[in-house]
Amino acid sequence: MTLSPGAMVVIGGSTGAGRAVATSFAKAGGTVYAAGRDEDRLASLQKELDDRGQTFALDVTTPDAFLFVGALPDAPAVTGAVYAAAHRYVPARLHHMGDDELLQVLSTDLLGAERFARAVLPRLMTQPTSSLVFVGSLAAQVGMKGGAAYAAAKAGLEGLARNLALEYGQYGVRCNVVRPGFIDGARFDARTADSDARREKLLAQTTLGTLVSEQDVADLVLFLCSDKARAITGAVVDITAGAHLNRLW
Ligand SMILES: NC(=O)c1ccc[n+]([C@@H]2O[C@H](COP(=O)([O-])OP(=O)(O)OC[C@H]3O[C@@H](n4cnc5c(N)ncnc54)[C@H](OP(=O)(O)O)[C@@H]3O)[C@@H](O)[C@H]2O)c1
Repeated sequence: MTLSPGAMVVIGGSTGAGRAVATSFAKAGGTVYAAGRDEDRLASLQKELDDRGQTFALDVTTPDAFLFVGALPDAPAVTGAVYAAAHRYVPARLHHMGDDELLQVLSTDLLGAERFARAVLPRLMTQPTSSLVFVGSLAAQVGMKGGAAYAAAKAGLEGLARNLALEYGQYGVRCNVVRPGFIDGARFDARTADSDARREKLLAQTTLGTLVSEQDVADLVLFLCSDKARAITGAVVDITAGAHLNRLW
């Protein structure tokens, strides 16, 4: 796979799938600018990236969070941008959700992505080709009890990506969504910590009988940022081990 030489900005890069994107891009020879909130996680990532990248502590729910993007060095040029940040997932029926929690989900998972896109597009547009990827969720496609706010935010990312693909294609900017199912990681562990049976039930909803790894997601994101994906834009790519097939029998 040929990755565009250059730099990539990864929001939500301090842990999970976003971190796998950041470290994989750095290993492939790129320069990474990765952002999150937690100082300890960012310090550990900075250590791993060494001179291949720089970390930024910020809160994506604040309007000025992405000002740093405008101040990044011109070289290597930013040709990749990835938004993987998401508020911690706590299942809750909508009528039980407080306004603070609702706003936190929407502003982390959707509004933050819009603000990030707004900040990074002017940089991407100066390059002959570039790629913007949002990490969505299977929840946008299938119903998930307790996931109304999360699903709405993730579905919003898909509409956002289609519009950006349409409007910025003329500047060589491609925009896509990756839509993971259950990722083997801290979130899945937290959801199933109290019940092996629940873990098995969720696993059985995949056709392949396996979880998606953080590295699987990173590999797909990096593919979408590579020249091999030069004709892919406005797409939503499922990476679910078959869970999106939502079999009835
Ligand atoms: N895990 C799953 O099963 C699953 C399934 C489908 C889709 N997804 C999606 O895949 C993506 C990655 O998921 P994951 O489970 O690997 O993620 P994760 O480990 O929970 O990481 C989330 C990232 O978002 C950052 N973040 C959250 N709120 C933030 C804020 N207000 N300001 C700045 N950064 C913030 C976190 O940084 P700090 O911790 O440093 O604040 C962290 O880097 C997410 O978009 C998620 O919705 C996950």
